[in-house]
Amino acid sequence: MPSIERRTFLQRSLAVGAGCSAELLLGRLLPAQTASRRTAARIYLDTKRTVAPIDRNLFGSFLEHLGRAIYEGIYDPASKLSDSHGFRKDVMDEIRTLGVPIIRYPGGNFVSGYDWLDGVGPKQNRPRVLDKAWNSINSNQFGTDEFMAWCSAVGTQPLMGLNLGTGTPEQAAALVEYCNVEKGTRWSELRRKNGIAAPYKAQNWCLGNEMDGPWQIGHMTAKEYGYKAADAARQMRYVDPTLKLVACGSSGPLMPTYLEWDREVLEECYEYVDALSLHRYIGNTQQETGTDSSKYLAMNLTMDRQIAETVAVCDYVQGRKRSPKQLWLSFDEWNVWYRARSGDAVNGREQDAPHLLEEIYNLEDALLVGGIVNTLLRNANRVKLACLAQLVNVIAPIMTNSNSLFRQTIYYPYSWGLQMARGEVLNVLADSPTYEVSGIGQVPYLDVTATFSTENGNAALFILNRDLSNSHEVDVVWEDAPHTRVLKSTVLTGSDLKAVNSFDSPTRVVPQDLNKPTTSGGHTKFEVPPRSYSVIQWGA
Ligand code: AHR
Repeated sequence: MPSIERRTFLQRSLAVGAGCSAELLLGRLLPAQTASRRTAARIYLDTKRTVAPIDRNLFGSFLEHLGRAIYEGIYDPASKLSDSHGFRKDVMDEIRTLGVPIIRYPGGNFVSGYDWLDGVGPKQNRPRVLDKAWNSINSNQFGTDEFMAWCSAVGTQPLMGLNLGTGTPEQAAALVEYCNVEKGTRWSELRRKNGIAAPYKAQNWCLGNEMDGPWQIGHMTAKEYGYKAADAARQMRYVDPTLKLVACGSSGPLMPTYLEWDREVLEECYEYVDALSLHRYIGNTQQETGTDSSKYLAMNLTMDRQIAETVAVCDYVQGRKRSPKQLWLSFDEWNVWYRARSGDAVNGREQDAPHLLEEIYNLEDALLVGGIVNTLLRNANRVKLACLAQLVNVIAPIMTNSNSLFRQTIYYPYSWGLQMARGEVLNVLADSPTYEVSGIGQVPYLDVTATFSTENGNAALFILNRDLSNSHEVDVVWEDAPHTRVLKSTVLTGSDLKAVNSFDSPTRVVPQDLNKPTTSGGHTKFEVPPRSYSVIQWGA
């Protein structure tokens, strides 16, 4: 294949993600190239050429009993900012405005030592428990019923985590019974006694958390976990056959058991589950990126690769089992996380709501999060659920203190995915100049995804410009009828990649207007600034 065609094919693959090999995704099959001097990029859009419908759960989030996520974050009965249930009203407003569709709870590492019975019933009877995952006290004043009430108040759905560490399959099935059976059984009657007549009908459940990790309470081998997950899934489905169940996949590509774990687990429980989980945290560290921001902004491509590899294992097991069922992926923890890390498990110091994992995000983190939004979108054919980890105070887009809250930089790209990626993901062909990244290969300066809704005719284009120094001209070629009515044209950018927001300067890094694109003769033209993440939304 001549090199220009090979490059176009690669960039299309990067834009589409699905169905191409990890090597292609990372440019390994390309001949070595030096960074191109051309700065114009072409994006070909055809609203009929689609990848997959976007599941609304693709932009979910996560709240763990960790640090100040629950206590002080969303639940603070002593606060003047809280309602009569003790829920922080300003935080609820923020999450309602975001429109988060699904929230994972109660962990995380926490869940693997959690007894859900400690968190239900009269509050004065609930025990104060030492959570060994984070060495913190859990007063249990917020438990399953409070979480369900909070979910309905903010208009979101629960993604329930189950303890498959110290917990048994029987206890997991009992929680399903507590939540989903209307009446007349031991655990449904306990819920009714606790004042909740109607069942919650929680649909989505995670069978444990990161059970491949030696840090996990109850860590076990893949085979042991696979058996346990299968047993839990069977018992849970006897209680409610409509559940959607997610098995624990590898907790990251650096795990020594990466992919082997996934294969062995699925060999034991494939027929009983609907999905497999992936987790990923990225940092601009010496080890991961050499603290090189150009490489850091390309790291979302390693998530495309992680998805492709995990899909390959799922489909391998499907083939071996001759199963008609294809699994989907739950990317139920993803984010930037590298500063507030060390010693967390011992730093809770047996306190209530200690300050843990309070990462402060800068502009470059937000740009990478924009890239990850693109990665999730272009893999929407297999990734049906994903959770930004986490939502409030703990590695989070929303930070609170006793008087107010502020939006971290990463809030903005996440909110654009939530609010503007609607309908179907388009199979974009993006021809962008590239640059060389060690360990990855040729990387396009522009990372592009697009969506189109047949319901209202809206289209949206999401562009990460990884070029730290140059703006790039963009020529959108509409292969069917051009969209000309711009509804929104916005960009997150700035001169200082390390700039952050704070309580004192909450608007240092905020979206700005992007010059409105102009369209003529089936071409829309505009420029994206260096170091930027932009979204353009058009109406029908
Ligand atoms: O989100 C923070 C922690 O990261 C979670 O508790 C755990 O699942 C992961 O390792």
